[in-house]
Amino acid sequence: MSTITSRVLCFYDYGEPLDVLRYEVAEVADPPADRVRVRVEATGLNPADWQICRGFMAGSLPRGVGCDVAGRVDAVGENVTDVAIGDLVVGSADYAGQPSAGAAEVAILRSWTPIPDGLDPVNAATLPMVVQTAVWTIDAMGVDSDTTLLVHGAGSMVGYAAVQVALDRGANVIATAGPALEADLTGFGAHVTRYGEGMVDRVRELATGPVDLVLDAAPPVTGIIPTLIETVRDPNDVVTVSNHDDARQLGARVNLDMLRINGWPAYDPTVQYAAKAAKGEFRLPIGRTFPLDDWRSAVELSLGRAPHGKIVLIP
Ligand SMILES: NC(=O)c1ccc[n+]([C@@H]2O[C@H](COP(=O)([O-])OP(=O)(O)OC[C@H]3O[C@@H](n4cnc5c(N)ncnc54)[C@H](OP(=O)(O)O)[C@@H]3O)[C@@H](O)[C@H]2O)c1
Repeated sequence: MSTITSRVLCFYDYGEPLDVLRYEVAEVADPPADRVRVRVEATGLNPADWQICRGFMAGSLPRGVGCDVAGRVDAVGENVTDVAIGDLVVGSADYAGQPSAGAAEVAILRSWTPIPDGLDPVNAATLPMVVQTAVWTIDAMGVDSDTTLLVHGAGSMVGYAAVQVALDRGANVIATAGPALEADLTGFGAHVTRYGEGMVDRVRELATGPVDLVLDAAPPVTGIIPTLIETVRDPNDVVTVSNHDDARQLGARVNLDMLRINGWPAYDPTVQYAAKAAKGEFRLPIGRTFPLDDWRSAVELSLGRAPHGKIVLIP
């Protein structure tokens, strides 16, 4: 094992992603204990990457971006016994305190699972953060076969995944989405309507009354929490992944607060959902792939809030 160089996307100061991100060459050390190093094959981007640039979960700088990585193991740290050099894995980058995270040629992973046969690295790289958020939140909400659930923003990747997870749990799912992914969501078995003007009436009509629970999976939208509260019996029935301040002020819930209070889940659903994806039983659409060198276009598309699928960087 030895230190190697890699092109990396990283930042030295907090700020707007397109202002602070730098694309440069950095040294990536051997993986420490309980970590593996991979040659990156694909990196799924998330809005959380831009929140991290702005100072969310602040840590030491410089710091890399890109949490979701598919790659081939090229070095293993002490105590790692479940993978070998050459294995293809998908997992979460360990970006804390180093300039290289997922958006790079080489990354250190803090968690991983083998990519099953039938799933390619690009599709594998779409999974970890979205699947973890959707499954952990649906479980924390107690969604089951007696639940009528509204997934607001089901055209976002967290929403699109949550629809599939809730249908797996047997729930009756109403989903709001734009036209781009409507046919997919309907095909899964959700009752789909548009977000925007008149949404509350359309949802009540589809549910024949108030819904039991709402998952707000859309990107942040000013004023949406009061609207979603109109669709339920109690503000507490609304759970958001994005409109934190409004939710806390109005008696709705924030998924991260629920997960902190309940204790962070010990299971990583990426393993199960990678297996499902390999069998065609779960999927996230690819909005667009970009070469790593064209990272700026990828960031711009993500910041535009209308990628209609996952954005994936390929070194
Ligand atoms: N708290 C957590 O644990 C956690 C974890 C991951 C992500 N998040 C947050 O969850 C949100 C979604 O993340 P993501 O990765 O799923 O996002 P994403 O896929 O980038 O979401 C973009 C999609 O949202 C839909 N959208 C845009 N404006 C909308 C509006 N006004 N109302 C409803 N839908 C709208 C659009 O789809 P259509 O127009 O085609 O419907 C668009 O393609 C982000 O705010 C992210 O930061 C939170």
